[in-house]
Amino acid sequence: MSVADLFPAAQPSATTSADRITIRRPDDWHIHLRDGAMLKAVLPYTAAQFARGIIMPNLVPPVTTVAAARAYRERILAALPDGMDFTPLMTCYLRDDTDPDEIERGFAEKVWIAAKLYPAGATTNSHAGVTDLIGLAPVLERMERIGMPLLIHGEATDPEIDIFDREAAFMEGSLIPLLARHQGLKVTVEHATTAEILDVVRANRTRVAATITPHHLVINRTHIFQGGLRPHLYCLPVAKRERHRLALRAAATSGEACFFLGTDTAPHVRGAKEASCGCAGVFCGPSALQTYVQVFDEEGALDRFEAFASLNGARFHGIAPNAATVTLERRGSRVIEAVAVEDTAVVVFRGDETLPWAVV
Ligand code: DOR
Ligand code: ZN
Repeated sequence: MSVADLFPAAQPSATTSADRITIRRPDDWHIHLRDGAMLKAVLPYTAAQFARGIIMPNLVPPVTTVAAARAYRERILAALPDGMDFTPLMTCYLRDDTDPDEIERGFAEKVWIAAKLYPAGATTNSHAGVTDLIGLAPVLERMERIGMPLLIHGEATDPEIDIFDREAAFMEGSLIPLLARHQGLKVTVEHATTAEILDVVRANRTRVAATITPHHLVINRTHIFQGGLRPHLYCLPVAKRERHRLALRAAATSGEACFFLGTDTAPHVRGAKEASCGCAGVFCGPSALQTYVQVFDEEGALDRFEAFASLNGARFHGIAPNAATVTLERRGSRVIEAVAVEDTAVVVFRGDETLPWAVV
């Protein structure tokens, strides 16, 4: 499969240099690739848009050991179509019983570059996650010492807490105290969805960053219920009120180094989404870059797109930006409606829409 096969024919139209932008190849700092047939089906779309990506470890069972991360990385590379170039950056799934020595070994051996904190029960395949953040101190102290970033799914897990308040509750009750206890720990607040958490990130910008998804830049919580229930727009953290979406757009397009790209592309087959109890996750891999660039264009910030997409994340993780480039063009391009997986499919975010920007 070639890159051209991944994108349906774009509508031709005249372009001028003002309608084209060339940036260093971007990286995606938050990706769910799953495994097996799903991995094979979705990976080409991410690899077509991004040079590298942080791979989430919430498989069943989760990726908790150096050996499991190494094996998963091999399966990803084996699933990559010939001629495509993509580097998976692996992560370790933290549990209450994670051994600090195992964390350090995987980091020293360059098998994983970060560890992922799922509060137990917060989201998909997180039941084996962390129940006691205080008890995690030995692991976090070790990570602080070796300079290994902690990636946080920042939502409170108490089912009594309103779902739209769970990021705020985690921020107040867990994140701010954690940052105070571990003052040298590098932290990424993943898929930020509230205005308030952006300010916590800014206040700690020397060592705290946030990723922002494409969908949280274009939908608010009302879109999930527009004309009926839209299961393919449901993810966690769930989209919030319009004022939060506007704050996310301002942060992403601000050029501030503490904000960078992380799609949280999270495929679930159609039947798992269109169900009486549908899974959380937006599959935005095939439409991510077109969506981000549209947002930057609408905000008059195309000159800051490269920083968000290709520079800030690499700098935070201490690795060089990519040398190769990608060009985006202002011309209508249709997004594939769904990606086939075995005898079913995964519905794509903004699928079947013609978007104003195309990946060349
Ligand atoms: O919506 C989500 N889906 N949020 C997450 O945190 C996990 C993800 C998934 O794995 O499906
Ligand atoms: Zn995720």
